[in-house]
Amino acid sequence: MFIQQNISLRECNTFGIEANAREFVEVTTLDELNVIVSNFNLSERKVMVLGGGSNILLTQDFDGMIIKNSIKGIYVVKEDADHVWVKAMAGEVWHEFVMYCIKNNLAGVENLSLIPGYVGAAPMQNIGAYGVEIKDVFDSLEAIEMETGEITGFTKADCKFGYRESIFKNEAKGKYIIISVTFRLNKNAELNVSYGAIKQTLEKNGVVKPTIKAISDTVIAIRKSKLPDPHVLGNAGSFFKNPEIPNEQFGKLKEKFPAIVGYPASDGFTKVAAGWMIEQCGWKGKRVGNTGSHIEQSLVLVNYGGATGSEIWKLALDIQFSVKEMFGIIIQPEVNIV
Ligand code: EPU
Repeated sequence: MFIQQNISLRECNTFGIEANAREFVEVTTLDELNVIVSNFNLSERKVMVLGGGSNILLTQDFDGMIIKNSIKGIYVVKEDADHVWVKAMAGEVWHEFVMYCIKNNLAGVENLSLIPGYVGAAPMQNIGAYGVEIKDVFDSLEAIEMETGEITGFTKADCKFGYRESIFKNEAKGKYIIISVTFRLNKNAELNVSYGAIKQTLEKNGVVKPTIKAISDTVIAIRKSKLPDPHVLGNAGSFFKNPEIPNEQFGKLKEKFPAIVGYPASDGFTKVAAGWMIEQCGWKGKRVGNTGSHIEQSLVLVNYGGATGSEIWKLALDIQFSVKEMFGIIIQPEVNIV
């Protein structure tokens, strides 16, 4: 382990944006991380912990220290008649962890197949797809407090999970480095095939009694057909969150835009499909310089090559403005803007 100066972050962010970090260190063991935490007074410095870099937009060089968490390992912690508790270290690639679960016939994360990023970042924004969120299988996590170097445990309640939200994006932001996450997985598959696209694809393929492997394969096929592969076209998945608005406001919008897409959310609120609104504003598939909104899924902004972070951010603000003009709703980024 050594600290590098003025390092390009292009390979470390899935948008493929060129930006430099003043200092960069990759840790592969807990001991290495402890050395960094105890010697560098992290709470007094500008620090960013990076996993797969799949949820950030770098709009400028980073004038601080990047800690890339590559601590790996997957361990069975305990089991009972119905469940197995599996602890994955933060530097495991999320999809590889999902594949481990499927290989061992452990249900719960199959709907979350092929989500880019690392295990350690997954609870930060409560990743979700196709009717499942990480909170549904989350047991606990361990994190190092940067100020004290102490290892602290977080239960599900401590994490304050919400839609693409957790304590780590709010009051605990920048205070902890997540080192491991423990999941409670099911031995007897309780499958979630409620999401329309999954149900339809399974039916089309004549699958009557789906296994967790069949669901994972289906999710992978749907994602590949809709979402651009970051290795081919730089992107960070959905750029914006789907906004939640009061049911009454949604009812009024429905009168004006009968085709508007919304789903029941928390009490009295409707979650509106931001992708649908962005498409109505004419952005879907539109290219602006080196960036644009993806042709198959307008919620995803892409880097056609050589885009700067500020160019993508400018496009995002223009899209946000259009949606506000047409629908009166301010859509918020899901991606972390750095
Ligand atoms: N839609 C459009 N036009 C578009 C995109 C979507 O009309 O350009 C409509 C679709 O037809 C559908 C609705 O909007 O009726 C929802 O679309 P989709 O099923 O593609 O899901 P989403 O709400 O756009 C969310 C997550 C994705 C996740 C999918 C599937 C957010 C911000 N995004 O997208 O997560 O994969 O559901 O569960 O919640 C991510 O977070 O990076 C991500 C990709």
